[in-house]
Amino acid sequence: MHGGIEHRIGVLFVCLGNICRSPMAEGAFRAAAEERGLACLIDSAGTASYHLGSQPDQRAIAVASAKGIDIAEQAARQIERDDFYRFSHIIALDRANLESLRAKAPRDGTARLAMLMDAVDGRRGEPVPDPYYGDTAAFELAWSMINLGACAWADRLKSEAAALRS
Ligand code: 4NP
Repeated sequence: MHGGIEHRIGVLFVCLGNICRSPMAEGAFRAAAEERGLACLIDSAGTASYHLGSQPDQRAIAVASAKGIDIAEQAARQIERDDFYRFSHIIALDRANLESLRAKAPRDGTARLAMLMDAVDGRRGEPVPDPYYGDTAAFELAWSMINLGACAWADRLKSEAAALRS
């Protein structure tokens, strides 16, 4: 995150608690970016502060792990002012979190704000439902939407990165 390679593309996934949906999005996108050879800064955060420092929810860890993706090392953090300058894209998991981001964004922030499903044809603006109070099936459904969105964003940003280089 600090030092090392300078990335022109940086993607921050944002949900409410940063323990269910955005950690899954970070994990899915990390795998998708790696598969595509897309080098970028990747992180996740919450708009709320309930779970600072917490590991992702065990159900999120399990659903990702079943797909071969390890998200257990992540620790929850809250969105901060600097994020609106450090990341080129801040991607919300639902509408309420997009509105929170808009309210928090500094006037001269450089990050583009969007929603996860915006990159998926025909599903622009669709929210990923919060699985926190749901069952295993809710986490499975969240994972499949999130993985679809993460792959679509990786495709889109891979094209944008190629355009930046040419
Ligand atoms: P997330 O899910 O936003 O996908 O991480 C939630 C986690 C915690 C709470 C709500 C949603 N909560 O109210 O504590």
